[in-house]
Amino acid sequence: MAQNNLLTLKDVDIAQKRVLMRVDVNVPLDANLNITDDTRIRAVLPAINYALDENARVIIASHMGRPGGKHVEKLSLKPVAKRFSRLLKKDVQFVPDCIGEDVEKIVAQMNPGDVVLLENLRFYPGETKNDDEFAQQLAKLCDVYVNNAFAVAHRENASVVAITKYAPVSVAGFLLKSELNYFERALENPARPLVAIIGGAKVSSKLGAFENMLKQVDKFVVGGAMASTFLKSVDYDVGQSMVENELLWEARSLMKKASMSGKAFYIPVDAVVADRFDPDAQSKIVPIREVPPDWMIMDIGPATALLYSEVLASARTIIWNGPMGVFEMDAFSRGTMAMVNYVANSYALTIVGGGDTDVAIHKAGESHRITYISTGGGAFLALMEGKSLPAVVALQEAAHRTGLV
Ligand code: 3PG
Repeated sequence: MAQNNLLTLKDVDIAQKRVLMRVDVNVPLDANLNITDDTRIRAVLPAINYALDENARVIIASHMGRPGGKHVEKLSLKPVAKRFSRLLKKDVQFVPDCIGEDVEKIVAQMNPGDVVLLENLRFYPGETKNDDEFAQQLAKLCDVYVNNAFAVAHRENASVVAITKYAPVSVAGFLLKSELNYFERALENPARPLVAIIGGAKVSSKLGAFENMLKQVDKFVVGGAMASTFLKSVDYDVGQSMVENELLWEARSLMKKASMSGKAFYIPVDAVVADRFDPDAQSKIVPIREVPPDWMIMDIGPATALLYSEVLASARTIIWNGPMGVFEMDAFSRGTMAMVNYVANSYALTIVGGGDTDVAIHKAGESHRITYISTGGGAFLALMEGKSLPAVVALQEAAHRTGLV
């Protein structure tokens, strides 16, 4: 079933109602608990502002990190409440718990137009266990449940899945809906050629995505540490580079399948190699046949970047997940940064997903020139793998059950 046929909060009456909005504001914090990137907070503001314009009572709920079902002070959502207040230009009360009588009392006292943020849902073990009792407690807080948390849509968590069985009405938020729409435009009904740039550490984490995308993608461009596994699978010597030896057969067979179905599959023709994994390592550029036995591949080389730029030049849709090298170290960031430039300058529809790629694009200051940067890492990958998202299935089932569709 299509994943983007969801009803949103615009399709239901929310005036005066208690709206529980599940968001994913699992944002990075530094040692002093300062938010270092608030993209995920900003991304949910349109739905919150809409609900406020409609005079709803807005109860925001999220997780932060992986506290393992217990209270971990440094994973409190308190700093996020402050940022919400600043961005919404109104007081967002922080509620130091997410279920129970005290929370119910606070919610009962809310006026239309008020906003509160509940404490981290994962402080309770029931959240990640998709526990019915926990979900019922949450559902008690609302008249309308809105899932606006794309980044956690691949998790069967109580506030994502089980809650839809108990909330009177369950709909999607604008962010969830638009993430699904962009993904569908990019992969299910793309302007062609569709080029997928796949990078990052491991073939194993993206094997499912490769397999699924073979059906739709016209050209693959591969970089990052995973390229070493592909290179070794066709007998290149990659020195000390990290290789998933147990996946050599799969890697080779993927390239074979691609070529048999007329798809192009590009792997690096040269590389930046280093004598150790260190920002100050000795490094040099070598043709891919000449990686010294004691050295390792850290980035794609300039000839590869040029080749990839030519592939991207004709693309009408580009989907990108994973960096081309160890871009966190300046000496090995050029390949990834070159790709950022090509993608930013492209006339294609450009969709980027995955935490690291997003970081590279922000670092280059090019995020405004990308059509869409997903807020999801794992959820985006799940879509690339062709999986249906538990959050979406739950909303669809709830809509049928409650007679909304
Ligand atoms: C993420 O950061 O990818 C989401 O918030 C999901 O977090 P999780 O992987 O801990 O479920």
